[in-house]
Amino acid sequence: MIVTIDGPAGAGKSSIAKQIAQALGFEFLDTGALYRAATLASLQAGVDLEDPQTLADFVSQLEIRWQDPQVRVNGSDVSTQIRTPEVTASIKYLADEPRVRAQLSLIQQSIAHGRNMVTEGRDQGAEVFPEAECKIFLTATAEERARRRVLQLAEQGIEEDFQAVLAAQMKRDHEDESRPVGRLRIADGAVVVNSDGLTAQEVKQQIVDLVQQRQ
Ligand code: DC
Repeated sequence: MIVTIDGPAGAGKSSIAKQIAQALGFEFLDTGALYRAATLASLQAGVDLEDPQTLADFVSQLEIRWQDPQVRVNGSDVSTQIRTPEVTASIKYLADEPRVRAQLSLIQQSIAHGRNMVTEGRDQGAEVFPEAECKIFLTATAEERARRRVLQLAEQGIEEDFQAVLAAQMKRDHEDESRPVGRLRIADGAVVVNSDGLTAQEVKQQIVDLVQQRQ
């Protein structure tokens, strides 16, 4: 059984998806980690990120493996290196290239094949697993997501202005919704879960209940 969790940045998809997987005894697939791994490998190999054909050819040669929480490229564990700002800043070259998306989608499908899995990303229900038994679109208003982000940063001792975080959040939403490929959208048949005013525990329970109704 496949459970897909899509939604805007900052909606808490990743932590909720992990908790749901744990509660259900399912495995968890972080698809962003695969995009990050392919981006890191391209940077390390000095591939011209602005040359889509070369980029797609390069990615097609990579052996990307996922064993939660570890991602390996051509045998090397890159789980830590994929989280650098340099990688984050370059992902768009891969994420906006249809041929790269097609390859990474195939990898995601082969990882999930025959398993009970919770997958998390942006295009999971709409594009990668359109036949998934349970599709969730996890969202919250931009204000709520910005408020949580400010709190999260404060816990790390970083002070950020709410209005600045909100503006960045809204810009990111707009970009994600208007991407030429793999744009963020609610998949056919997806259940929209709005987490405004709910605790993480309540959101988790709501989704676990939905999945169990379909098992
Ligand atoms: O969830 P994350 O921040 O690790 O994702 C990294 C980037 O990868 C994010 O900017 C968008 C892209 N991505 C994507 O295009 N499609 C996915 N299914 C997952 C991530």
